[in-house]
Amino acid sequence: MGDKFVLLVMCLLTSTFSMSVAITSSSNGVVRLGLKKQSLGFNSLYAATRIKGRYSTYAKGAVTTTQDSDDSEMNIISLKNYLDVQYFGEIGIGSPPQNFTVIFDTGSSNLWIPSSHCHFSVACFFHSRYNSSNSSTYTEIGKPCKINYGSGMILGFFSEDNIKVGDLVVKNQVFTEATREGSVVLSLASFDGILGLGFQDVSVGNVAPLWHSMMQQSLVAQKVFSFWFNKDPMASEGGELVFGGVDPKHFKGQHTYVPVTQKGYWQIDLEDFLVADQSTGCCINCTAIVDSGTAFIAGPFDAVKKINDAIEAKGFVSMECKKAVSQYGDLIWQLLLSGLQPDKLCSSIGLCSFNGTQHLSDSIKMVVEQKGETHNVGQDLVCAACELTVAWMRTEMMQKKTRGKVIEYVNKLCDTLPNPTTQLAVDCTKIPSMPTVSFVIGNKSFHLTPGQYILKVEQDMATFCISGFIPLDVPVSPPQGPLWILGEIFMEAYHTVFDFGNLRVGFAEAA
Ligand SMILES: *[C@@H]1O[C@H](CO)[C@@H](O)[C@H](O)[C@H]1NC(C)=O
Ligand SMILES: *[C@@H]1O[C@H](CO)[C@@H](O)[C@H](O)[C@H]1NC(C)=O
Ligand SMILES: *[C@@H]1O[C@H](CO)[C@@H](O)[C@H](O)[C@H]1NC(C)=O
Ligand SMILES: *[C@@H]1O[C@H](CO)[C@@H](O)[C@H](O)[C@H]1NC(C)=O
Ligand SMILES: *[C@@H]1O[C@H](CO)[C@@H](O)[C@H](O)[C@H]1NC(C)=O
Ligand SMILES: *[C@@H]1O[C@H](CO)[C@@H](O)[C@H](O)[C@H]1NC(C)=O
Repeated sequence: MGDKFVLLVMCLLTSTFSMSVAITSSSNGVVRLGLKKQSLGFNSLYAATRIKGRYSTYAKGAVTTTQDSDDSEMNIISLKNYLDVQYFGEIGIGSPPQNFTVIFDTGSSNLWIPSSHCHFSVACFFHSRYNSSNSSTYTEIGKPCKINYGSGMILGFFSEDNIKVGDLVVKNQVFTEATREGSVVLSLASFDGILGLGFQDVSVGNVAPLWHSMMQQSLVAQKVFSFWFNKDPMASEGGELVFGGVDPKHFKGQHTYVPVTQKGYWQIDLEDFLVADQSTGCCINCTAIVDSGTAFIAGPFDAVKKINDAIEAKGFVSMECKKAVSQYGDLIWQLLLSGLQPDKLCSSIGLCSFNGTQHLSDSIKMVVEQKGETHNVGQDLVCAACELTVAWMRTEMMQKKTRGKVIEYVNKLCDTLPNPTTQLAVDCTKIPSMPTVSFVIGNKSFHLTPGQYILKVEQDMATFCISGFIPLDVPVSPPQGPLWILGEIFMEAYHTVFDFGNLRVGFAEAA
């Protein structure tokens, strides 16, 4: 059993690309871009960037694009953990094209990639870098720019060059060459950069987004782009992004269109949120952002609590803690009685990969941490749970309590641990009995079955199931109601058309 956990921890560092698809294109103003799919791993789930930051941007419905370090207003980028995003595609910059893997993100509006002038960031070292002196179509701009993230930032400068998307070439596109990626987590990322598909209104530096240039240069037949994400992990195609049209292969029936209520992000009205066909009553005048650059569905605390309670989602920390108590409680008790040094106990039973007290202080820090924004939860979870159990048991033992009492008490303590509120685990075996949820958009119910809203994270030895719903409380000013972010989970179920020409978003069942 111990070996299993050690192995698991070792696997956390590997991230696998399950799908890879070449770019496919056709002429007549329609470009089909194959997307790659990456399976979710613990490293991406637990990487430091969390949904946090200042959300006042939503409340006001506008974003300032200040270039200074004042973070009183942040771009939507600050809301995200891009590392759990599963879909990527490739673009070429310059002539001849230098290739980059990017996230196509409807929740932001800038394009950035690492620069060859980036020397001091680990992140740049691991990614493709754009070298402007190798491009015959490069135009210097040089104006500095800064994009804020929840826990870090991108520093760089603007440049201009041609961008190749499929077989389309967008001329003279302004983008950001990142020279410093002030966030360690980005070095782990399997993408080089981010290509924003939001509106110019939220573009840092008010740069015209690539999609605007495509339309301006009359490269697309229709002013729409559409996404299809392939949830099937076994399929050879990861997904498809079509600029200039809609691929009839990838949806059933007709799209239901709703107007974009606020230009900036792709923001629409949500009429209701149902759990098992019952209105939760948590969604009066709700608003939602359709965001291809977020893996999960984020929603107001009350509504998300309803679904996460219904599926008995628990924090990983509590869950691992209870597991440690039930599986190792007796053993730990006996080892403590036998006089084994407490700080060596967890490594001796294989739950911690090294000995010493260093770990214990970490786990205590974890407990003390109020907001649950812990960084080391992923890899160290099992070990931390064990060490907490040991520490608690020792305290109880000294008071000469009986074994049964102590284990019962420690088990209760597990529930009191502050859990990271973002990712919640569920019991995979209970998926068939979990309720369907529905979003009412444009008078129509869009259902999500448990199979669609539960994420499975596969590690070699086991499958972990994670609720696709994340609480996100954004203060909003009336008449705007609570905000939702409909990310990849929603878009996997529903083929999505972003209709710029008619300022509307359409959903149809994905096929
Ligand atoms: C960039 O990608 C294209 C299309 O996949 C490929 O033909 C080309 O060789 C790549 N260029 C480089 C420099 O890798
Ligand atoms: C960029 O390319 C030029 C020309 O090939 C080369 O001299 C230069 O060293 C490159 N710069 C970097 C930072 O790789
Ligand atoms: C830049 O161009 C030179 C010559 O054209 C080539 O040898 C070199 O590999 C290129 N460097 C990059 C980073 O693309
Ligand atoms: C960890 O354990 C090994 C072997 O059991 C021992 O040699 C080493 O000194 C220990 N390290 C610490 C920090 O206690
Ligand atoms: C929803 O239905 C009501 C009444 O049936 C109608 O008044 C309203 O316009 C519809 N809304 C949309 C967005 O279709
Ligand atoms: C919902 O929106 C309507 C119309 O925009 C507004 O009159 C009403 O006050 C809003 N309700 C809430 C609870 O904000």
